This record gives sequence, C-alpha cells and structure tokens, in this order.
Amino acid sequence: MQLTDVLTYHNGRLHLENISLAALAEQMGTPVYVYSQTLLAANAQTVLTSIPPAPPDTLICYAVKANANPALLHLLGQYGFGADVTSGGELFLAQHAGIPADRIIFSGVGKTRPEIVMAIQAGIRALHVESAVELETIAEIATAHCRKVRIGVRVNPDISADTHPYMSTGQKTHKFGVSPAQAIEILTKAATHPWLEPVGLATHVGSQIRSLASFADVACFLVDMAARLAAQGIRLEYLDVGGGLGIDYDGQGAPSLADWVTAVAPPIHQAGYNLVMEPGRSIVGATGILLTCVTTIKQQGERTFVVVDAGMSDLIRPALYNAYHAIWPVVAPPPGAPSLPVDVVGPICETGDWLARERPFPPVRPGDLLAILHTGAYGFSMSSNYNGRLRPPEVLVHRDKWYTIRQRQDYHHLLDGCTPIQNLSEN
Ligand code: LLP
Repeated sequence: MQLTDVLTYHNGRLHLENISLAALAEQMGTPVYVYSQTLLAANAQTVLTSIPPAPPDTLICYAVKANANPALLHLLGQYGFGADVTSGGELFLAQHAGIPADRIIFSGVGKTRPEIVMAIQAGIRALHVESAVELETIAEIATAHCRKVRIGVRVNPDISADTHPYMSTGQKTHKFGVSPAQAIEILTKAATHPWLEPVGLATHVGSQIRSLASFADVACFLVDMAARLAAQGIRLEYLDVGGGLGIDYDGQGAPSLADWVTAVAPPIHQAGYNLVMEPGRSIVGATGILLTCVTTIKQQGERTFVVVDAGMSDLIRPALYNAYHAIWPVVAPPPGAPSLPVDVVGPICETGDWLARERPFPPVRPGDLLAILHTGAYGFSMSSNYNGRLRPPEVLVHRDKWYTIRQRQDYHHLLDGCTPIQNLSEN
C-alpha cells in the first residue's frame, strides 16, 4: 500500500483516509503532522506476513529514531514489533509505549555509562557493542550489578550503500561499528566473561537504500562471519541486518517491504540463525504528511518564493540532505491550471530553509493549504525550536476519525528547564 492509496482528492479536496485535511487544519491550525493508521498497520502487516514461518525466528525492531511518537510506538508494539533504540531517551519512550524489554535492542556509537546501566536494569534483549572500550564498560557494569548481559556486536562490513553520503554508514571510513577482526575479538572476549553472553552480530549500512543487492550482500556477509565464529566455538542466536530500506519519495521507485524481507531472510534462516531487522523509514515514512499554510508570496528577480508556515525547524530533510518531498495543494487546482516553477520556503532566518526548489506548481495564494508528502519518518523526530518556533502537533487519522497524538507546543515550552529570571543573581 502507498501513501497515494490513502491520500486522495474527493470533490477537489484532499483527504487522508476519510478525513478532509482542510477541516483538520481548521481545527488544529498549521503546521501539523498527520499520519495514516491504516497505512501504518498495512506496512507492519506486510513485513510480518513476508517473514517465512518460524523457526528460526524473526524479530522486527522498529528504529525509534524515525518517529518516536508514543502512540505510534504503542501501535507498533501491539502489532508485534520490538524497538531499536539509540539512547536512554528512546529506551524510555519504547518502554513507556509498552514494548517489552526482551524485544528491545540498543544500537548507538556512544552509549554513556548511565545509558548502559539503564539498559541492563531494564533487561533488554541485547546491547550492540560499538567498540572494545564499550565492551569493557558493559562488563564492568554487568559485574557490579551481578546481571548477565546479552551482547551483540555491530560490525562494519565496508559495504558501500547507494544513498546520500550522510546516510551511508557501513564503510570503514565511517564511525559506526567495528572491523570484522575486532568483532570476532569482542565476541570471543564476551564468551569468556562470566557476566556477558555473546548472542548476535549486527550491521546497518545506511538509510534510504533502494538497491536490494546491498541488503543481500549484508545478509551473506553476516552469515559468513557467523560461520567463522561458529568454527571458533561461538554459536550466535541472531543476525541483524539493520534497517535502511528506501521509500519512493520522487516517483523513481523503491523495493517493497516484502522484497526486502525476501532478500535477507532466506540466507539467514537457512544458516539456522534468527533474523533481526531494524526498519524505520520504510514503516512510517510514507504514512505521514506535513500540512502547512501559505503565508505570503514574494517575487525576487526571476524567482517566486512561496513562503509557508512550516520550515526547517519542522522538516529539516530538504535543508540537510537536499531531500525531495512532493507537495500537493489541499484544494485541487482547476484542470489545465498552469504550472510555474516556485521555491517553497519556510520563515526561518537561513537561506537553506527551503522545502522545494524550482518546483513546477499551480498558482497559489496566501491562506492556501499545502501537504508535504512522505514526512512520517525523520520529520517531527528531527524538529527543533530553532528561531523560537514551536514544535507542531501530530495527528493520527484512522478511517473517519482522527486523534491528536501530540499537542502543539505553546510559548511556555520555550522556557522548559530554564532557571526563572527572578532566581538569577544580580551579576
Ligand atoms: N538501525 C540503525 C542502527 C540506524 O542507525 C538506523 C538509522 C536505522 C536502523 C533505521 O534506518 P531506516 O530504516 O530508517 O533507514 N535522518 C535521515 C536518516 C538517518 C538514519 C539514521 N539511522 C533522513 O532523514 O533521511
């Protein structure tokens, strides 16, 4: 199922599922993130039904960083997903949403001591070690707490992924994971430690990857490494291929969730290992839109700037990665309306604050509503209060009902955690 199956015009007005986005914006104001529960459930279902019947087993650990709204986490937990967390904050959110600890894994290149203590106390499925130093810290804390800790190692396979350089993570020039030789050393050490249990080997070679071949390479690489470890007497429980499946932002296509599972599961299951996957974007990316309202139109020389009330503080992906997001008017343009190139920009004091550049667009006027598509992943989760802007609300739509799952911030949020002025000393 695609976003365009649930985002449709009825009588010239854009609807998500059965909800009129103009009516929703009227009540909620703009900017506002809106997600489709039907599409979320369909994506989760596609993954779960594509998994070959157990055993061996498969655990889908949703990458919380893509969208950490507790309501969405809760739904995914109910569908049977676990969570891949990357900080104490994400572990807190996953637990708060009711995801059982034995379905949570902790990846992250710089886990702090308090975060490691928190993960051990929670009793999560495994910590994915990212360095020999980190293993020592975990061993020390496990010993002090007399807790047996399950260890995975994130290995850097030196496989290049065809994606934006900022989203490629699996080459030896990147900070992530350890070399295959170091991974073997770390797992061997863990095997001899009374409070550590080596259970898994993980990797994640990047994000927004559209080539299934990269994933098949990753699966084969992990199976080969596991065989080398088994030859040394270390028999792992699971192999974790990470996340990274791309979605079709620009109409150029992307493999389906089912194709992805089919590319990685057979080699791992045939080798007798449980499979772990860490999808983020492919689960939530297409489920969301960001609704925004045109504030003003400016003509500067040759260029037409459509200034909207969402900006890089709400959606940073265009500014950060030159990312493309389709933008649809909420009121369908009349048939035959001309399309002229415009720059859709936000209100923030940065030239990089754009949402679309030189994009052919039908005529718009101040007050018109626009929907920015495929913003369910790395949209709200990367938002900020930059320029004193308030984080937008989030709404979940399901058939003919909608629920506010996060309120819009108000100005008092800008003071959160700040020492009251009257408490500051005179100097
Ligand atoms: N596992 C690990 C260890 C990761 O670092 C990530 C994403 C994932 C899983 C999930 O990857 P996904 O399935 O979502 O591709 N901010 C960027 C994406 C950065 C992804 C970081 N790591 C964006 O807006 O495109």
